[in-house]
Amino acid sequence: MSDSTPTLYKGLVGVYADVSAVSKVMPETNSLTYRGYAVQDLCEETDFEQVAYLLWHGELPTAAQLKTFQAEERANRALSPALLRVLRDFPKDAHPMDAIRTAVSFMGMEDPEAGDVSDAAQRRKAMRLLAKAPTAVAAAHRLAKGLEPIEPDAALPYCENFFHVVFGKVPAKEVIKSFDVSMILYAEHTFNASTFTARTVTSTGADIHGAITAGIAALKGPLHGGANEAVMHMLKEVGSPEAAEDWLEGKFDHKALVMGFGHRVYKSGDSRVPTMTKYAEKMAEVVGDRRWMETSRVLAAKMLKVKNIHPNLDFPAGPAYYLMGFDIPLFTPIFVCSRITGWAAHVFEQGADNRLIRPLSHYTGFEQRPVPPLSARG
Ligand code: ACO
Repeated sequence: MSDSTPTLYKGLVGVYADVSAVSKVMPETNSLTYRGYAVQDLCEETDFEQVAYLLWHGELPTAAQLKTFQAEERANRALSPALLRVLRDFPKDAHPMDAIRTAVSFMGMEDPEAGDVSDAAQRRKAMRLLAKAPTAVAAAHRLAKGLEPIEPDAALPYCENFFHVVFGKVPAKEVIKSFDVSMILYAEHTFNASTFTARTVTSTGADIHGAITAGIAALKGPLHGGANEAVMHMLKEVGSPEAAEDWLEGKFDHKALVMGFGHRVYKSGDSRVPTMTKYAEKMAEVVGDRRWMETSRVLAAKMLKVKNIHPNLDFPAGPAYYLMGFDIPLFTPIFVCSRITGWAAHVFEQGADNRLIRPLSHYTGFEQRPVPPLSARG
């Protein structure tokens, strides 16, 4: 680089792009708070619906506020006949992340307040998105498997209804609790790639459906949310705890990325991993299959010993969802359903104190030159 090269922050490493009061990551103590509350405490003391309220309103709900919030969510779960028709036409082999991305975009067109980006309208739209996303994820997935969509059940809380629309039945309360914990842990994580994408779209004055459609596109990548699916594919490829060390040595030989490890912000452990591991272990007990957690344990110990790299949230979430019975392509769409809460909180925050997000690039291409006529280009 020449002397005139400005300081570059590739990958925006170490850059503070704005202030935010939604959540705080403290890598030095491996901790994460939402609106000041430690995530592990929220997991033990609250549920996903209360955390959604907390992220959107800044405070935990009173009993009356929670009742209203739950009633609104339950009343908005059904998909329109038009969206259901569109879902039926999706390619059967489409990835569920592409299906939910397209469904959210479609919901934006048919939303009764489509053109309104006022804070009040954005909040009402966020509620509709939160309520409809599981219905759309489940319907698209069931249709791809040749099954009919299941209508949401307004008598069921959010997490119970999630299982109902995917499987047509509600599992034991230990399974619901593990799922609920995963939804809380996935809900929010400061300026990660998909949240920053959603804020960037919002900064142009675009609506929340556009911001969340873009957030879903960013989340799909295996370096971000797509890692929870990649982790389970990896565990299946490894096959058993006995095979884990040799399998990992092969990866080290090729300097390959090991999915579910490493993090841009946490370098000595992801704050969410102990809680998710505890609930993934509970799932292994409930199902009576310890193979995946034992394989995970061997991989994590060896990664730490050889590379000094810790697992991230996707590492225990992948096997937890598998043990809950979800098909692997549903793992990242589940993350979407949770992260809608965090994305929306950032959309509200960006909208409340907006400045267009528009960084600079340092140009390294050709100097200015004349355009040759077509006949002179060989
Ligand atoms: N496997 C093997 N080596 C790794 C891994 C990994 N999973 N993660 C980091 N490293 C290595 C890097 O290759 C690099 O080595 P080098 O210094 O010899 O080049 C070193 O550790 C430092 O890594 P960074 O480049 O600083 O990591 P960065 O912050 O750019 O990337 C990321 C973070 C993308 C999460 C990376 O760790 C990764 O690709 N992990 C696998 C994918 C994954 O699990 N993503 C989920 C993220 S969490 C979430 O979205 C919920």
